[in-house]
Amino acid sequence: MQLLLMGPPGAGKGTQAVKLVEKFKIPQISTGDMFRAAVKAGTELGKKAKACMESGKLVPDEVTIGIVRERLSQDDCKGGFILDGFPRNVEQAKALEKILDELNLKLTKVLNIHVPAADLIERAVGRRVCKNCGATYHVKFNAPKVENVCDNCGENLYQRADDNEETMKNRLSVYEESTRPLIDYYEKIGLYTEIDGRQPIDKVTEELENVLYSVKE
Ligand code: AP5
Ligand code: MG
Ligand code: ZN
Repeated sequence: MQLLLMGPPGAGKGTQAVKLVEKFKIPQISTGDMFRAAVKAGTELGKKAKACMESGKLVPDEVTIGIVRERLSQDDCKGGFILDGFPRNVEQAKALEKILDELNLKLTKVLNIHVPAADLIERAVGRRVCKNCGATYHVKFNAPKVENVCDNCGENLYQRADDNEETMKNRLSVYEESTRPLIDYYEKIGLYTEIDGRQPIDKVTEELENVLYSVKE
């Protein structure tokens, strides 16, 4: 299955992708995670991405499309993948079509996790991420058993540099302007399904899985 997991910043794409990876044994490809790893490692890519990410803008298309092309060409993507946070504008969606054509693949489904803007700032500002294994928590909605400590690996949690109210407002306006038009784009192609992301995490997972079981049959 070649899946796109869409939704505004903080909608729960990463949280759900991890669960779908376990269930369907296909890799999660998160451009945001790839950029954060590059920033941490101090690579050329990281240098290009850092300022855009900190201000909530999109990293330039040519950079982003390049890393996705490279990633999708790797062997572990042959049996399917879950794209999380790409594409984020119509140019990226067109580039993805081209990449998939080159690889002789087609999208199976586009899943959009819908959460109203009013809830998203609280989700982002309360998010905490494990430094070591990347597990995602929320101080209120998905708290770790011990404050600030990862349930999986015992490492400390941190807050992403872009998870503050000011940057989040920019991320939301970039979403409205550049990413929301993709809903229309994928509805026209006929691959689009929307899931109510205001439900509890497990309920969202269940609905996503149900949609995917129905396309698999
Ligand atoms: P990216 O890392 O993709 O950030 P994003 O799209 O803003 O999405 P988030 O990761 O913030 O949210 P999420 O939907 O994964 O939510 P999560 O599951 O963590 O991108 C970061 C930056 O990189 C961009 O701003 C840009 O600069 C750059 N970038 C990335 N991709 C790019 C591209 N294609 N082109 C150009 N630039 C790009 O959940 C959020 C919180 O809510 C957590 O605390 C979680 O525990 C909680 N939560 C989750 N589900 C629920 C629920 N059902 N109920 C209550 N709480 C919940
Ligand atoms: Mg994410
Ligand atoms: Zn951890």
